Amino acid sequence: MHSSCYPTIYIALFLLLTGLVHTNVGNNEISAERVVGGTPVTKGKYPSQVCIKNYSSPVCAATIISKKYILTAAHCYARTQYPEYLGVTAGSINIYEGDFHSIMGIIIHDDFDSQTGENDIAIMEVHPPFVFGPNIRAAPLPAFGAKDPAVGTVATIIGWGETKSGGPMSYLLLEAQIEIRNHTMCREVYAAVKNVIFPSQICANDAVGGKGTCNGDSGGPLFIDGVLVGVASHIQDCDVIRYPSVFARVSYYRDWIRTYTGSVEEGVRIIVGGHAFEGEYPSMIGIVYDKTIFICGGTIISERHVLTSAYCVKEKPDNYAIYAGSLKACSGDRHDVLKRNNTDPSKNNIAILELVNPFNVWSKLSQPAVLPRGKNDVPAVASETALTGWGKLKIITDVGSSYANYLFVIYLLTWNQTECEKFYADFDTEISSGQICAGYHFGGACYGDSGGPLFVDGVVVGILSFARGCATNPTVFTRVSYYRDWIREIAHV
Ligand SMILES: *[C@@H]1O[C@H](CO)[C@@H](O)[C@H](O)[C@H]1NC(C)=O
Ligand SMILES: *[C@@H]1O[C@H](CO)[C@@H](O)[C@H](O)[C@H]1NC(C)=O
Ligand SMILES: *[C@@H]1O[C@H](CO)[C@@H](O)[C@H](O)[C@H]1NC(C)=O
Ligand SMILES: *[C@@H]1O[C@H](CO)[C@@H](O)[C@H](O)[C@H]1NC(C)=O
Repeated sequence: MHSSCYPTIYIALFLLLTGLVHTNVGNNEISAERVVGGTPVTKGKYPSQVCIKNYSSPVCAATIISKKYILTAAHCYARTQYPEYLGVTAGSINIYEGDFHSIMGIIIHDDFDSQTGENDIAIMEVHPPFVFGPNIRAAPLPAFGAKDPAVGTVATIIGWGETKSGGPMSYLLLEAQIEIRNHTMCREVYAAVKNVIFPSQICANDAVGGKGTCNGDSGGPLFIDGVLVGVASHIQDCDVIRYPSVFARVSYYRDWIRTYTGSVEEGVRIIVGGHAFEGEYPSMIGIVYDKTIFICGGTIISERHVLTSAYCVKEKPDNYAIYAGSLKACSGDRHDVLKRNNTDPSKNNIAILELVNPFNVWSKLSQPAVLPRGKNDVPAVASETALTGWGKLKIITDVGSSYANYLFVIYLLTWNQTECEKFYADFDTEISSGQICAGYHFGGACYGDSGGPLFVDGVVVGILSFARGCATNPTVFTRVSYYRDWIREIAHV
């Protein structure tokens, strides 16, 4: 491990949702879903059904839950490497037709486990929003506190998935009736093949056999009386009736869904981001510890100085080096560190590193960031910001590659300071005037590297400091302008 660059999570930041995802979902059948034994539906019968496409290839299904959001399985996201290629088609029963909407934001459940399939649920934001009509409409979600459906209740599955295991996908949407199964029984049959069935899941199959979900149906709905009660997650083998289809139980996630969709106003995005372009963030650098271990992000501020968080560089300066000028973590132009200045790290999570060798020439790929002008420069509430990093992606933590291969950028909005203070007061954490918060008004970034920069209109306004949890909390940044004089004194910029 010491021989290669290996990003680790630093301090209290929990990182997640966007970016490169490599999972081995195939190993334990978390990907298999289809409607076997189904019959074609008539146009407009299931107006909430959409098909998720990777470029133009169908990869999963999803259900419209509002004009902007669809509900699907978390593992569906794992099926594409680049979120920017994801889109959905809506309004058609033909898998190759329908109106195309791109996917702008993805929220994967924080506790999604790609190995076991627990919390296999995700919300995606589409762009442009759907225009509802006879063929496009949201499906109702279970009421808050709704009772779970009784064993034996008839439910409907729909999908374009394979019509037998390994067989072709159906180009027309198919439906089939199945029944809710006893959870204990389901757990037992899956225990035999070493799969855990969780209380947050619901099982269903056909009493006679021959009907169920299969490859390609993942993310699609389980309906009871038109209400979306389940999201298709997995099945052991779609040709063997012994195994019921397993669904994420929507009622279990009712609050989670509301957190993201219920209070989100028009125009506010969730996790929106993508790969940075070459030269787009030329001041971004990566910090390595012990010559090889990626630990944090930072920002070039002069020929000799980079700005980062104090937590990132607590040890002797010569334990650290930086890499600049590359979209890849730990590659590019390497500089050893000569000196470090911290103010009191317990109060001021900011540090400046002085490099042994200065940047002699600026290039398109390495340049100093623009600093805020004065101490009182504070971005307006709800300013759009860009946070860059190679941050670890939560959904791949258990799986091989643990960091983004390429620099990622996500766009956040600055929070109202008072609101952020109130928010963290509940966790006995004080937010000072030397800090600013960003996220969405329902939550934080969950992505990035400690010490990494937050930009507003190209000016580095913040240094990623910490976040409490991930999904619903704002992320806290050291406010660069607050330390403007200190920076000038040390770096002469
Ligand atoms: C998604 O499409 C890209 C581009 O064609 C391809 O490289 C990638 O393998 C596809 N992913 C899946 C899971 O189909
Ligand atoms: C589920 O099955 C178990 C035994 O397998 C049984 O004890 C239990 O009563 C069943 N529950 C329902 C609701 O049918
Ligand atoms: C920066 O650190 C050096 C020692 O490395 C120290 O002499 C200097 O006073 C520090 N400057 C500030 C402004 O803290
Ligand atoms: C921030 O929110 C508080 C209420 O919590 C409000 O009084 C204040 O005006 C808001 N400030 C800004 C700049 O929006």
